[in-house]
Amino acid sequence: MDYPRILVFESLDEMALKALEWLSEKTAARDMVSIALSGGNTPQALFEKIVKLDVGTVDWNKLLVFWGDERCVPPEHTDSNFRSAQKSILIPLDIPEEHIFRMHGEADPEMEAERYSQLLAERLPIVKGFPQFDLILLGLGEDGHTASIFPDDKYLFASTQFCAVAKHPLSGLQRITLTGSTINHALEVAFLVTGTPKAEIVAEIVQTPELTHYPATKVAPLSGKLTWLLDKASASGLKA
Ligand code: 6PG
Repeated sequence: MDYPRILVFESLDEMALKALEWLSEKTAARDMVSIALSGGNTPQALFEKIVKLDVGTVDWNKLLVFWGDERCVPPEHTDSNFRSAQKSILIPLDIPEEHIFRMHGEADPEMEAERYSQLLAERLPIVKGFPQFDLILLGLGEDGHTASIFPDDKYLFASTQFCAVAKHPLSGLQRITLTGSTINHALEVAFLVTGTPKAEIVAEIVQTPELTHYPATKVAPLSGKLTWLLDKASASGLKA
């Protein structure tokens, strides 16, 4: 199947099985596999399904876990993306702590963006001047934001930085995020989007990318490997 791939799943189980298939292939073929997790609510249900359906085909010790973005809160805070991943997948699968690289939401945001950028430069191969992830998982907001790149932050797709500080346009809360440049230097990028409230924005971005001005429209990995993981509800706006 050519890229960009639009994969629509009948159920979360099916989506989880596809994720497990990808993970088992990658961990079988590679020494280590680096993944950046998306935040928000959507991933949790999928992560819990992956844990439930895991039958041991994935070498979880080969996974290096990073984040695409984090809210500037402590790791025990209910808004912490790290905390929700820990509960839904990292602890249940016993991912080794030394393979988990959380963004320090409790730290000074500018200093943390700098620290995390240095960490990426140390832990990931640098390709065309940017750290290269094997896979970056992204969510999608109804306003077209992705990671913590909001509608006024599209300049982050031309940034020379690896990470940046952003601000949620409504709450004003600060975030740390991978820049659009780092996202587009990944080997593979996958949007994970579920639910009817996202159907309109998905249809707009997938079917008329040239017309939209949303940050998510600028996600275009240099590798070309972009995949949309959708459930029937979020795909309901797509023409056949
Ligand atoms: C975050 C994100 C953000 C999220 C979208 C979708 O930390 O909030 O990474 O980009 O993926 O806002 O969020 P939901 O999955 O909660 O709809």
